[in-house]
Amino acid sequence: MTLVLGIESSCDETAVAIVADDRRVLAERIASQMEAHRPFGGVVPELAARAHAERLQPMARAVLDDAGVALADIDAIAATAGPGLIGGVMVGLVFGKALAYATGKPLFGINHLEGHALSPRLVDPALRFPYLLLLVSGGHCQILTVEGIGRYRRMATTIDDAAGEAFDKVANMLGLGFPGGPAVERAALAGDPRAVPLPRPLTGSDEPHFSFAGLKTAVLRAVERGGHSAPDLAASFQQAVADCLVDRTRIAMRRRADATALVVAGGVAANKAIRAQLQALAMAHALPFVAPPMRLCTDNAAMIAWAAHERLAAGLAPDADPQARPRWPLDPLAEAARGAGVKA
Ligand code: KG4
Ligand code: ZN
Repeated sequence: MTLVLGIESSCDETAVAIVADDRRVLAERIASQMEAHRPFGGVVPELAARAHAERLQPMARAVLDDAGVALADIDAIAATAGPGLIGGVMVGLVFGKALAYATGKPLFGINHLEGHALSPRLVDPALRFPYLLLLVSGGHCQILTVEGIGRYRRMATTIDDAAGEAFDKVANMLGLGFPGGPAVERAALAGDPRAVPLPRPLTGSDEPHFSFAGLKTAVLRAVERGGHSAPDLAASFQQAVADCLVDRTRIAMRRRADATALVVAGGVAANKAIRAQLQALAMAHALPFVAPPMRLCTDNAAMIAWAAHERLAAGLAPDADPQARPRWPLDPLAEAARGAGVKA
């Protein structure tokens, strides 16, 4: 049995996990920093880095104890090396380097997006390449073709905001609090998705890219004009996002008729209305729909450890001295989306 200890610290979750090559997650701990950031209505990078630094060492100790293994039993260390908030990434990567140095075990600097991309295979051994991945979170909004380990084609990205970011900003406008996604979803339950006419940016265009800035501004204008209830605004906004995601994913599916499945991951995949509409799209095209369990969909360390297992199994050696990278596109060949302002 091979054991990998994974570390994730690229945003506001501090996480450590120990994963075996037979897909068992032996132990896993995750600490959200939501409370620290709530007064600011968003993630404060400086606070995040400090919290990671305080928590990682005791958390790794606790995870080893939970798993009942000694540090010497670990075969490799895996730490997120980017993309993400650079302070937090550096804290996690340096901690991983220290563990690797102390134990003489290899260190994998893992691309956080690769962690998301391969996470469905941690729970579904039958999932075959190539598959389509719609990654929708607070920091990412991309459609990728996962062709193999280390082989990713980015078909689409956002030209401005990520979908989760738009949820958070709209929640703010409606006074629903942080984090916004779950709050908007709750409010939307009591609203009419057709009540407020809102744009569906980029739908119908040939390239499957995303844009949410115009939609967000349209919600702001509607709030300023008045006359609509918060539930109606939330429901109409949520439906507009769902329509954009479905339309863009449909284009990507048409392009990659060889895909074996449609996989969704990221915090926004927690949204039941959005999930249901994506599932209906996949079913209409007779494509299996895979949505990993929520604990794997949002940021976590098991996916980072698993990506290292995949690399080990594929015979890919780790970089000798991985560096922390704020930006690190999974597909280096992907052209920047038109409209600039492109996120990692
Ligand atoms: O994957 P995640 O935990 O962290 C990263 O951004 O990487 O995603 C968090 C994002 C936030 O923007 C949050 O508002 C959004 O996912 N989110 C949701 C829901 N739950 C979380 N958006 C819509 N509906 C939800 N139920
Ligand atoms: Zn993420």
